[in-house]
Amino acid sequence: MSSTTYRKLIATQLSHNFRSAIAITELPIPTPASNEVVIRNHYAGINAGFDTLLCRGQVPYMQLTPPFDLGVEAVGEVVAIGQAVETLQVGDAVATTIRGGGYREYQAIAANLAVKIRAPIPEILTLMPTGLSALVALERVGEMRSGEVVLITAAAGGIGHIAVQLAKLAGNHVIGVCGSAAKVALLEELGCDRIINYRTETLDAVLRQEYPKGIDLMFDCVGRQVFDTCVDHLGVRGRLVVVGFISEYTNDLESVTQPRIYQKLFWKSASIRGFLMPHFSDYAAEGGDRLFDLFYSEKLRVAVDPMLFQGLESIPDAVEYLLSGKNCGKVVVRF
Ligand SMILES: NC(=O)c1ccc[n+]([C@@H]2O[C@H](COP(=O)([O-])OP(=O)(O)OC[C@H]3O[C@@H](n4cnc5c(N)ncnc54)[C@H](OP(=O)(O)O)[C@@H]3O)[C@@H](O)[C@H]2O)c1
Repeated sequence: MSSTTYRKLIATQLSHNFRSAIAITELPIPTPASNEVVIRNHYAGINAGFDTLLCRGQVPYMQLTPPFDLGVEAVGEVVAIGQAVETLQVGDAVATTIRGGGYREYQAIAANLAVKIRAPIPEILTLMPTGLSALVALERVGEMRSGEVVLITAAAGGIGHIAVQLAKLAGNHVIGVCGSAAKVALLEELGCDRIINYRTETLDAVLRQEYPKGIDLMFDCVGRQVFDTCVDHLGVRGRLVVVGFISEYTNDLESVTQPRIYQKLFWKSASIRGFLMPHFSDYAAEGGDRLFDLFYSEKLRVAVDPMLFQGLESIPDAVEYLLSGKNCGKVVVRF
């Protein structure tokens, strides 16, 4: 790469395998239009589930034809500004959450889409849009209250570890479900009331024995058998928020034959609610401000996975690492 060019990751074809869908391409560093800023990305967040589904052509609201850009959230610094830009200066640290804006070394965007931050540190990537999604899913979709029992799956992951803390801050008894001793240690530090490592305990058995009245609010990221068990343990007026179903992202969807789901919901006045962050953009500003306040006032601890992924070439490894379930906290790539 010369000092006048930059590189980005693009999907060149749809494929069931992320690695075989992508390529790196080199372009001239853009000059900003009048209302734009040019940003040098320092870090980007890895959203392996979304990346995989996008490259499989399985995001129903976004049927993209290759080639298309990849990655969403990034933090970086402003390196050039357009003539009409008054809100940002060269050298400012900014965060961005634009589809296609993440997996690239530079981006030119309208200045009003960049959020000024104190420093371009990777920890910010746990908040926008990941942490914001946790907040909206719990509060707006799950109607989170205080004094309830809240269960979070993939609780030590990028979105899960923020959800755990928001549920605790709201005054709830929080159950965190995870799959390793390192994740158990993180969840202990975050104040989880009951941690279930599904490799050493059975989720169904623990819930049956210790929570016979069922769970008030469930935040499920995993799907398949975990989802089924969650549905079985919903309490009266319980709410289950479908945040994702990562266990199905790299496979064909499993077909199940059983009595219709109303049989499990009706008798408990329980509900299952889908959640997709793009449908809640009207809460982004207020929710984002609250999350940043919690983070800067040290009431919210954020976890960035310690595995170092360096450069665009490492992104397929980062995607596979996350999908293997090894990560603890948010997976990021450094440029
Ligand atoms: N709805 C939305 O708008 C929205 C926004 C952001 C994220 N999400 C969803 O939230 C979920 C978590 O995303 P994230 O990026 O924060 O990832 P993450 O939680 O940091 O990492 C994924 C975790 O999922 C768990 N997992 C359980 N079974 C798995 C399986 N069969 N394959 C892979 N992972 C498995 C693993 O932890 P354990 O082994 O400890 O369970 C793994 O570490 C995903 O479903 C994603 O699609 C949804």
